[in-house]
Amino acid sequence: MSDSKTREIFVTGLKNAHAMENQALSIMKPQVKRIENYPDIAAKLEEHIRETEGQIGRLEEILTSLAENNSSLKDAALSFTGSMAALGHTVAADEILKNSMANFAFENFEIAAYKSLITIAELGGFEGLVAPLQVNLDQEVAMAAWLEESLRPTTIKFASLKEAGQAAKV
Ligand SMILES: [Fe+2]
Repeated sequence: MSDSKTREIFVTGLKNAHAMENQALSIMKPQVKRIENYPDIAAKLEEHIRETEGQIGRLEEILTSLAENNSSLKDAALSFTGSMAALGHTVAADEILKNSMANFAFENFEIAAYKSLITIAELGGFEGLVAPLQVNLDQEVAMAAWLEESLRPTTIKFASLKEAGQAAKV
């Protein structure tokens, strides 16, 4: 494969990742505002929102280092309409459970995206740009692991709040 083709795949992947991270922010920010009964989840989401902002910064730095104009990034973000776009479960009585599952799915999507991006970076001779992508990947792996661990206690808490008649609150 020619270098220019690999570079094209890499740049497209970086722009897609940038759109994906903006999508992540637009999913997490409304969620965190609604949480009252699950402070540990709210705190973790706040932490990951800050991490995600850092991830976006790293992606922009990489794109800049490749002399790619950042002005096209807004369009990419707006055109991100994958299956993940429907992840806001704001009216369901079991909102916290649905969001916990959806967030876990989204983090795994992000993990897959960064693993693919890192592979393309290596194929295209961009090894020098792997390190910041690995930072992003490590953060997604940690977040996915936290979400996986919290599924059971969150479900148990949801069930006990429902028992107490408070299930309507997130
Ligand atoms: Fe993430």
